[in-house]
Amino acid sequence: MANPADWERADRYISEAVLGHDAVLEEVSHRCVREGLPPIQVSQAYGRMLELFVRMCGARRVLEIGTLGGYSAICMARALPDGGKLVSLELSDKHAQVARSNVAFAGLADRVEIRVGPAMDSLAAMRTEAPFDLVFIDADKASNAEYFGWAVRLGRVGTAIIVDNIAKRGEIADPGATDEHAVGSRKVLEAMGREPRVRATAIQTVGSKGHDGFALAVVVA
Ligand code: SAH
Ligand code: DHB
Ligand code: MG
Repeated sequence: MANPADWERADRYISEAVLGHDAVLEEVSHRCVREGLPPIQVSQAYGRMLELFVRMCGARRVLEIGTLGGYSAICMARALPDGGKLVSLELSDKHAQVARSNVAFAGLADRVEIRVGPAMDSLAAMRTEAPFDLVFIDADKASNAEYFGWAVRLGRVGTAIIVDNIAKRGEIADPGATDEHAVGSRKVLEAMGREPRVRATAIQTVGSKGHDGFALAVVVA
Protein backbone atom coordinates (compact mmCIF):
# COMPACT_ATOMS: atom_id res chain seq x y z
CA MET A 1 0.00 0.00 0.00
CA ALA A 2 2.72 2.44 -0.84
CA ASN A 3 1.75 4.51 -3.84
CA PRO A 4 -0.66 7.37 -4.57
CA ALA A 5 -3.15 5.14 -6.41
CA ASP A 6 -3.44 3.01 -3.26
CA TRP A 7 -3.91 6.12 -1.07
CA GLU A 8 -6.65 7.32 -3.39
CA ARG A 9 -8.38 3.93 -3.34
CA ALA A 10 -8.22 3.81 0.45
CA ASP A 11 -9.67 7.34 0.65
CA ARG A 12 -12.58 6.24 -1.56
CA TYR A 13 -13.12 3.24 0.71
CA ILE A 14 -13.11 5.48 3.80
CA SER A 15 -15.63 7.81 2.15
CA GLU A 16 -17.94 4.89 1.46
CA ALA A 17 -17.46 3.03 4.76
CA VAL A 18 -17.26 5.89 7.24
CA LEU A 19 -18.41 9.19 5.77
CA GLY A 20 -21.29 8.23 3.51
CA HIS A 21 -22.69 9.87 0.41
CA ASP A 22 -23.02 13.64 0.87
CA ALA A 23 -25.12 15.18 -1.88
CA VAL A 24 -24.48 18.75 -0.72
CA LEU A 25 -20.68 18.49 -0.64
CA GLU A 26 -20.64 16.60 -3.95
CA GLU A 27 -22.65 19.35 -5.60
CA VAL A 28 -20.39 22.00 -4.02
CA SER A 29 -17.34 20.21 -5.50
CA HIS A 30 -19.00 20.04 -8.92
CA ARG A 31 -19.82 23.74 -8.82
CA CYS A 32 -16.18 24.56 -7.96
CA VAL A 33 -15.02 22.56 -10.99
CA ARG A 34 -17.65 24.19 -13.25
CA GLU A 35 -16.50 27.65 -12.11
CA GLY A 36 -12.90 26.78 -12.95
CA LEU A 37 -11.55 26.90 -9.37
CA PRO A 38 -8.36 24.91 -8.70
CA PRO A 39 -9.13 21.47 -7.17
CA ILE A 40 -7.32 22.16 -3.91
CA GLN A 41 -10.11 22.06 -1.34
CA VAL A 42 -9.81 19.62 1.55
CA SER A 43 -10.89 16.02 0.96
CA GLN A 44 -14.22 14.74 2.25
CA ALA A 45 -12.44 12.91 5.09
CA TYR A 46 -10.41 15.98 6.05
CA GLY A 47 -13.54 18.14 5.90
CA ARG A 48 -15.23 15.74 8.30
CA MET A 49 -12.20 16.02 10.59
CA LEU A 50 -12.62 19.82 10.60
CA GLU A 51 -16.31 19.38 11.41
CA LEU A 52 -15.36 17.12 14.32
CA PHE A 53 -12.75 19.59 15.59
CA VAL A 54 -15.46 22.27 15.71
CA ARG A 55 -17.70 19.87 17.63
CA MET A 56 -14.87 18.78 19.97
CA CYS A 57 -14.12 22.41 20.85
CA GLY A 58 -17.79 23.31 21.18
CA ALA A 59 -16.75 26.23 18.98
CA ARG A 60 -19.25 29.04 18.46
CA ARG A 61 -16.92 31.39 16.58
CA VAL A 62 -14.69 30.04 13.81
CA LEU A 63 -12.18 31.91 11.65
CA GLU A 64 -10.99 30.55 8.31
CA ILE A 65 -8.15 32.02 6.24
CA GLY A 66 -8.53 30.91 2.59
CA THR A 67 -12.11 30.22 1.45
CA LEU A 68 -11.78 29.02 -2.18
CA GLY A 69 -15.27 27.71 -3.09
CA GLY A 70 -16.44 27.34 0.51
CA TYR A 71 -16.04 23.56 0.84
CA SER A 72 -14.14 23.57 4.16
CA ALA A 73 -16.23 26.51 5.43
CA ILE A 74 -19.39 24.48 4.85
CA CYS A 75 -17.89 21.46 6.66
CA MET A 76 -17.09 23.58 9.72
CA ALA A 77 -20.23 25.75 9.68
CA ARG A 78 -22.41 22.65 9.75
CA ALA A 79 -21.06 21.90 13.23
CA LEU A 80 -21.86 25.33 14.66
CA PRO A 81 -24.70 25.67 17.16
CA ASP A 82 -27.56 28.11 16.54
CA GLY A 83 -26.14 31.61 16.85
CA GLY A 84 -22.65 30.39 15.91
CA LYS A 85 -20.62 32.19 13.27
CA LEU A 86 -17.83 31.46 10.80
CA VAL A 87 -15.85 34.28 9.18
CA SER A 88 -13.79 33.27 6.15
CA LEU A 89 -11.15 35.48 4.51
CA GLU A 90 -10.51 35.28 0.76
CA LEU A 91 -8.33 37.32 -1.59
CA SER A 92 -10.20 36.53 -4.81
CA ASP A 93 -13.54 38.17 -5.45
CA LYS A 94 -14.37 35.37 -7.90
CA HIS A 95 -13.68 32.64 -5.32
CA ALA A 96 -15.71 34.54 -2.72
CA GLN A 97 -18.69 34.78 -5.07
CA VAL A 98 -18.61 31.05 -5.79
CA ALA A 99 -18.25 30.36 -2.07
CA ARG A 100 -21.20 32.59 -1.12
CA SER A 101 -23.37 30.82 -3.64
CA ASN A 102 -22.23 27.42 -2.31
CA VAL A 103 -22.80 28.43 1.30
CA ALA A 104 -26.34 29.54 0.42
CA PHE A 105 -26.90 26.27 -1.44
CA ALA A 106 -25.83 24.41 1.73
CA GLY A 107 -28.37 26.44 3.75
CA LEU A 108 -25.68 28.09 5.90
CA ALA A 109 -25.80 31.71 4.74
CA ASP A 110 -27.05 32.83 8.16
CA ARG A 111 -23.86 31.72 9.89
CA VAL A 112 -21.08 32.21 7.32
CA GLU A 113 -19.57 35.55 6.35
CA ILE A 114 -16.95 35.77 3.59
CA ARG A 115 -14.68 38.83 3.52
CA VAL A 116 -12.74 39.72 0.39
CA GLY A 117 -9.21 41.13 0.47
CA PRO A 118 -5.68 40.18 1.51
CA ALA A 119 -6.13 38.17 4.72
CA MET A 120 -3.38 40.15 6.46
CA ASP A 121 -5.43 43.35 6.09
CA SER A 122 -8.66 41.72 7.21
CA LEU A 123 -6.94 40.17 10.26
CA ALA A 124 -5.47 43.50 11.35
CA ALA A 125 -9.02 44.87 11.55
CA MET A 126 -10.47 41.97 13.55
CA ARG A 127 -9.26 42.57 17.11
CA THR A 128 -12.70 43.72 18.26
CA GLU A 129 -14.20 40.44 16.98
CA ALA A 130 -11.95 38.21 19.08
CA PRO A 131 -11.86 35.70 20.57
CA PHE A 132 -12.33 32.95 18.02
CA ASP A 133 -12.63 29.39 19.34
CA LEU A 134 -11.07 27.70 16.29
CA VAL A 135 -8.95 29.01 13.41
CA PHE A 136 -8.28 27.12 10.15
CA ILE A 137 -5.33 28.48 8.14
CA ASP A 138 -5.39 27.48 4.45
CA ALA A 139 -4.42 30.40 2.19
CA ASP A 140 -1.06 31.53 0.71
CA LYS A 141 1.58 29.39 2.39
CA ALA A 142 4.26 32.12 2.43
CA SER A 143 2.26 34.02 5.06
CA ASN A 144 1.50 31.03 7.30
CA ALA A 145 3.75 32.11 10.18
CA GLU A 146 2.11 35.55 10.24
CA TYR A 147 -1.37 34.00 10.07
CA PHE A 148 -0.44 31.72 12.96
CA GLY A 149 0.64 34.77 14.99
CA TRP A 150 -2.72 36.40 14.30
CA ALA A 151 -4.59 33.23 15.21
CA VAL A 152 -2.89 33.21 18.63
CA ARG A 153 -3.63 36.92 19.14
CA LEU A 154 -7.27 36.52 18.10
CA GLY A 155 -7.69 33.41 20.27
CA ARG A 156 -8.06 32.69 23.97
CA VAL A 157 -6.84 29.87 26.18
CA GLY A 158 -8.39 26.77 24.61
CA THR A 159 -8.53 28.06 21.02
CA ALA A 160 -7.59 25.40 18.44
CA ILE A 161 -5.49 26.37 15.42
CA ILE A 162 -5.19 24.10 12.37
CA VAL A 163 -2.71 24.78 9.55
CA ASP A 164 -3.19 22.92 6.26
CA ASN A 165 -0.56 21.61 3.83
CA ILE A 166 2.45 21.51 6.14
CA ALA A 167 4.06 18.42 4.59
CA LYS A 168 3.51 18.66 0.84
CA ARG A 169 5.40 15.64 -0.58
CA GLY A 170 7.67 15.68 2.47
CA GLU A 171 9.50 18.76 1.21
CA ILE A 172 9.68 20.44 4.61
CA ALA A 173 12.78 18.43 5.49
CA ASP A 174 14.35 18.55 2.01
CA PRO A 175 17.07 21.23 2.04
CA GLY A 176 16.77 21.44 -1.76
CA ALA A 177 13.12 22.53 -1.55
CA THR A 178 13.21 26.32 -1.53
CA ASP A 179 9.79 27.13 -3.06
CA GLU A 180 7.50 29.36 -1.05
CA HIS A 181 5.28 26.47 0.00
CA ALA A 182 8.16 24.54 1.63
CA VAL A 183 9.71 27.67 3.11
CA GLY A 184 6.33 28.88 4.44
CA SER A 185 5.57 25.50 6.00
CA ARG A 186 8.96 25.34 7.74
CA LYS A 187 8.51 28.87 9.03
CA VAL A 188 5.10 28.17 10.54
CA LEU A 189 6.16 24.84 12.06
CA GLU A 190 9.20 26.44 13.68
CA ALA A 191 7.07 29.36 14.90
CA MET A 192 4.65 26.86 16.46
CA GLY A 193 7.53 25.04 18.11
CA ARG A 194 8.89 28.28 19.58
CA GLU A 195 5.59 29.83 20.70
CA PRO A 196 5.24 29.35 24.47
CA ARG A 197 1.51 30.15 24.35
CA VAL A 198 0.63 26.95 22.46
CA ARG A 199 1.04 23.17 22.60
CA ALA A 200 1.33 21.91 19.05
CA THR A 201 1.89 18.92 16.83
CA ALA A 202 2.03 18.17 13.11
CA ILE A 203 0.71 15.06 11.40
CA GLN A 204 1.56 13.81 7.91
CA THR A 205 -1.27 12.38 5.83
CA VAL A 206 -1.72 10.40 2.62
CA GLY A 207 -4.94 10.25 0.62
CA SER A 208 -6.70 11.58 -2.44
CA LYS A 209 -4.61 14.78 -2.19
CA GLY A 210 -1.32 12.90 -2.14
CA HIS A 211 1.24 13.19 0.66
CA ASP A 212 0.60 16.19 2.86
CA GLY A 213 -0.26 16.99 6.47
CA PHE A 214 -1.66 19.44 8.96
CA ALA A 215 -0.46 21.10 12.13
CA LEU A 216 -2.65 21.45 15.21
CA ALA A 217 -2.10 23.81 18.11
CA VAL A 218 -4.09 24.68 21.21
CA VAL A 219 -3.56 27.98 23.01
CA VAL A 220 -2.62 27.15 26.59
CA ALA A 221 -1.51 30.47 28.06
N1 SAH B 1 -10.03 26.16 2.58
C1 SAH B 1 -10.46 25.89 1.21
C2 SAH B 1 -9.28 25.87 0.25
C3 SAH B 1 -8.50 27.18 0.22
S1 SAH B 1 -7.38 27.24 -1.18
C4 SAH B 1 -11.18 24.54 1.18
O1 SAH B 1 -10.59 23.57 1.68
O2 SAH B 1 -12.31 24.46 0.68
C5 SAH B 1 -6.53 28.72 -0.80
C6 SAH B 1 -7.33 30.00 -0.99
O3 SAH B 1 -6.57 31.07 -0.39
C7 SAH B 1 -7.56 30.38 -2.45
O4 SAH B 1 -8.93 30.61 -2.70
C8 SAH B 1 -6.79 31.69 -2.61
O5 SAH B 1 -7.41 32.63 -3.47
C9 SAH B 1 -6.77 32.22 -1.18
N2 SAH B 1 -5.70 33.18 -0.90
C10 SAH B 1 -4.47 33.24 -1.46
N3 SAH B 1 -3.78 34.28 -0.97
C11 SAH B 1 -4.59 34.91 -0.08
C12 SAH B 1 -4.46 36.06 0.75
N4 SAH B 1 -3.34 36.79 0.76
N5 SAH B 1 -5.51 36.42 1.53
C13 SAH B 1 -6.64 35.69 1.52
N6 SAH B 1 -6.83 34.59 0.76
C14 SAH B 1 -5.82 34.20 -0.03
C1 DHB C 1 -2.56 22.78 -2.79
C2 DHB C 1 -3.36 22.15 -1.85
C3 DHB C 1 -3.93 22.88 -0.83
O1 DHB C 1 -4.70 22.30 0.14
C4 DHB C 1 -3.74 24.25 -0.76
O2 DHB C 1 -4.31 24.92 0.25
C5 DHB C 1 -2.96 24.90 -1.70
C6 DHB C 1 -2.37 24.16 -2.73
C7 DHB C 1 -1.96 21.97 -3.87
O3 DHB C 1 -2.20 20.77 -3.91
O4 DHB C 1 -1.24 22.55 -4.68
MG1 MG D 1 -5.04 23.58 1.73
